[in-house]
Amino acid sequence: MPEIKVRPARNSDRRPVAEFTARTWVWGDYISSVWRRWMDAGGLFVAEIGGKVVGVVRVSLRAGGEAYIQGARVAPGFRGAGVGRAMTSEALRWASSMGAGFATLATSEDNLPARRVAEALGFRVEQRVVRVSAPRKRCRAPGVRPLSPGEAASLISSPSGVRPVKFDEYSWSTMTPEDAARYAEEGFAAGVGDPPRAAAFYQPWEGPTVMVDFVSGDRADSEVLGLHLRSEAISLSAGRVWGYLRDDDGVISGLRRAGFRVRSRGYLIYRRDLRTVASPA
Ligand SMILES: CC(C)(COP(=O)(O)OP(=O)(O)OC[C@H]1O[C@@H](n2cnc3c(N)ncnc32)[C@H](O)[C@@H]1OP(=O)(O)O)[C@@H](O)C(=O)NCCC(=O)NCCS
Repeated sequence: MPEIKVRPARNSDRRPVAEFTARTWVWGDYISSVWRRWMDAGGLFVAEIGGKVVGVVRVSLRAGGEAYIQGARVAPGFRGAGVGRAMTSEALRWASSMGAGFATLATSEDNLPARRVAEALGFRVEQRVVRVSAPRKRCRAPGVRPLSPGEAASLISSPSGVRPVKFDEYSWSTMTPEDAARYAEEGFAAGVGDPPRAAAFYQPWEGPTVMVDFVSGDRADSEVLGLHLRSEAISLSAGRVWGYLRDDDGVISGLRRAGFRVRSRGYLIYRRDLRTVASPA
């Protein structure tokens, strides 16, 4: 196999990448739609074999020293030859040279090639997330109340051991206390208890639907929060509630009791430290 060359993407790469990503999934792909945004932000790399562009990957530098790897695609005829590993490894070196302290990525748990690449590069599973959904329903949700921005922020900052994450159109990002306060200012943070011991953060979304971004609490509290979310769908003229949440026993069993369905195929969020990556020569 000829040498794999990884380099920063150029405008002229858009066409070859569009051609090999047009049918990545049954529904297509989103890479072409975000191409300009990714080019402008930096951190977009392509892989070439014999002068032909055969792969693409993006790394975005985020607050808190996080480098998020996404959009890895290799042209179907070139998969399994080490292109994915070479591109991702170069993206990590670049992120590290830019000062990132850790890297994350997410993949469907049945995507074995993507998991192989992540694991070979030293990533380990940080958490599993699952898709939850429920139709709207007028429900009684005793004890649920709006949270103030300060209360919302304190629920995120309390150390639970696992990095809180939320789903953001094709990627997962860290949920910060500032994000939580913003949901409360917008009127989309509900809690149980005083001081609050459980919370749900959500937002009105297209469809119209209600997208639930983060839930914390034991089974009983998560159940009333789930009922509240289903009622909120009615208040917001939405048909249903849906979202991706961490596969936490209490939260997921509580939501099931509130009538939520939980998709069995989950996503894995991987993480690795970047302090051990060598800088580019
Ligand atoms: C995921 C993807 C980017 C990986 O790129 P790649 O060039 O094929 O990756 P590599 O050749 O570096 O490594 C692939 C690994 O998966 C393994 N693999 C391939 N098919 C596999 C399968 N069906 N089951 C298990 N392992 C498999 C390969 O053997 C290789 O592992 P190894 O190096 O230990 O032998 C590429 O397959 C792709 O474009 N897939 C479709 C889009 C996609 O899923 N993107 C990732 C979204 S998170």
